[in-house]
Amino acid sequence: MTNTDENIRKEEGYEVDTATNVRLIKDHEYDGIKELDNDMPSWWVWLFIITIAFSLIYLVRLWVFRADDLLQEKEFQKEMAAAPKANKPVEELAMAWLDDDMSLNNGKETWTKICAVCHLADGGGLVGPNMTDNYWIHGNKVEDLFAVVTNGVIEKGMIPYKDQLSPRQRLEVISYVMLRLHGTTPATPKEPQGELYE
Ligand code: HEC
Repeated sequence: MTNTDENIRKEEGYEVDTATNVRLIKDHEYDGIKELDNDMPSWWVWLFIITIAFSLIYLVRLWVFRADDLLQEKEFQKEMAAAPKANKPVEELAMAWLDDDMSLNNGKETWTKICAVCHLADGGGLVGPNMTDNYWIHGNKVEDLFAVVTNGVIEKGMIPYKDQLSPRQRLEVISYVMLRLHGTTPATPKEPQGELYE
């Protein structure tokens, strides 16, 4: 090791231990412990290069090609499409009266359990209006009844059931009202409220 070599190295920021001939980092000596200036192991350098290459490919796929498997919105849409029917939005349920026995029995059960307190089991009406006559405050279409049961008419005392009953349960109970209670003769009918619908 010539003197000039050593001078250059000193300028570059490291010096050579004269006894062992290993490279040392200048001024990095504490309590007799010297810091060596060895090259990084090649496996480490490769790992570093691969990480950079990976991140570049990732960014190009994400921002340039907008790859499906990297985009959160697309993944969300895929999950939603695969989710069970009960979690789908209300619009998925066809707005039509359910006339099969099972739906009407389910509807009857809901009616007697939670609606009858105000509307009476036979639909004659008490706090809530009579369901058996042809007078309706909010209309007699399936969408009208569904909206009343879903959102309620709080200021008049009709409770919203959107959190308590699933869309299907709401459709079942209004189907029971329209196809089973409406048109019958209750024991103590409440006077008509609303407008006459033929
Ligand atoms: C706490 C009492 C109460 C309960 C419980 C209740 N209702 Fe009502 N309901 C009312 C009142 C009061 C009205 C009248 C609202 C108005 O005047 O706009 C009403 C109105 C309605 C109407 C609209 C009637 C019309 O003439 O347009 C429907 C349909 C209805 N309720 C269905 C139900 C169903 C189904 C349930 C059970 C899931 C239920 N209600 C539970 C009090 C109640």
